[in-house]
Amino acid sequence: MSMNAPRGTQDILPGTSEKWQYVEEQLADLCRRYHYKEIRTPIFEHTELFQRGVGDSTDIVQKEMYTFEDRGGRSITLRPEGTASVVRSYVQNKVYGLPNQPTKYFYMGPMFRYERPQQGRMRQFVQFGIEALGSDDPAIDAEVLSLALNSYRELGLQSLKLVVNSLGDQESREAHRAALVRHFDPHREELCADCQVRLDQNPLRVLDCKKDREHPAMETAPSILEYLNDYSKDYFEQVQQYLDVMDIDYVVDPNLVRGLDYYNHTAFEIMSEAEGFGAITTLSGGGRYTGLVQEVGGPETSGIGFAMSIERLLMALEAENVELPTDEGLDVFFVSLGDEANRTAVKVTDELRRAGIQVDKDYLGKKMKAQFKAADRLGSKFVLVLGDQELENGVINVKNMASGEQQEVALDRIIEHMKNELTGGK
Ligand code: HAM
Repeated sequence: MSMNAPRGTQDILPGTSEKWQYVEEQLADLCRRYHYKEIRTPIFEHTELFQRGVGDSTDIVQKEMYTFEDRGGRSITLRPEGTASVVRSYVQNKVYGLPNQPTKYFYMGPMFRYERPQQGRMRQFVQFGIEALGSDDPAIDAEVLSLALNSYRELGLQSLKLVVNSLGDQESREAHRAALVRHFDPHREELCADCQVRLDQNPLRVLDCKKDREHPAMETAPSILEYLNDYSKDYFEQVQQYLDVMDIDYVVDPNLVRGLDYYNHTAFEIMSEAEGFGAITTLSGGGRYTGLVQEVGGPETSGIGFAMSIERLLMALEAENVELPTDEGLDVFFVSLGDEANRTAVKVTDELRRAGIQVDKDYLGKKMKAQFKAADRLGSKFVLVLGDQELENGVINVKNMASGEQQEVALDRIIEHMKNELTGGK
């Protein structure tokens, strides 16, 4: 039995976890400004939710779910994405009946997909996502796109490409679907086994096939944009007008399909165009969904959202050489020697921490010189020294590591003194 972490998972160790915290805080702050509030849903749900929500014909449901039977004989699945759970919660808690619609949520947490791991593709990854439920206003589509883009821009990314498409309403989709079947049916035998099934179940999925990508029929496949009815066409135009007023650059790609079944009207992805980003260039994706709330047992309500993985975001930051302003230093290291000094050091360390100051000390019984070395390695701003001499005089020696300045401070004034040093008295 291997004692390594399972394939496609990773440990996030100090040095990197600070970056995660920083990014998570920035994203939460962005959501606050757009007035999206945090929702936390369970990590596992009834399998049926994803089968019906994400769609039976998707790769996610057919090949990638972590599904197991629990001890009560129920089929349970580790969530492969967040939208279905958010919609389930919205319906279950009858949030649609509350005043102040639309309902605007954000979420952050681990998702699970049994995919073939490679750089940027994990089996456990963390998604940050938002969902706005209960409005059909194209302006909210543009708001979601703006938030998605700004989440990257504000962290310092520049090489971004926003690709948008419309998948139309049900009527448009049905017309397009019939056209796709007419187009691909003569080539049925030349398509992969999966696509032959897709052609019957959900022909749109054929356009998304990785195996048949090079088939000549792909290039000439009918575009959804030719099948949009007036309502869908007008909707898409309005979304684009709102993007224009916000000066958001985008490209329309009629072949953008997305890997989940619930979309109609607006669909989009954001790609990284940074050199050396890797084979997978999609940073995030999302779109509008109309049938999902009803599918889960709620009233006819539509929503729009998007999700990104933090893993791919951090990869993009690295590819663009963006340094995150994370502080990995230490405020105070307490150096002490001798039993009584050690006892006092424990007491003062505790008091400093309770006063809001970050402090660490030696726990390996090191000599004074080695303790100083440790303080230096940890990047401590101040070193407090308490030896026999200082004890006798009722003082602590305070050394400012940047300036090299030293001063003796009375033991009973040390908390106040350090507070002033570190916060400038604020
Ligand atoms: P998705 O396109 O399946 O959409 O995933 C969204 C994002 O999650 C991807 O663009 C990527 O950043 C990240 N992601 C997906 N799979 C992996 C993986 N195996 N490893 C690392 N990152 C991954 C959804 O999940 C929809 N729920 C988005 C949405 C929200 N649509 C409407 N609302």
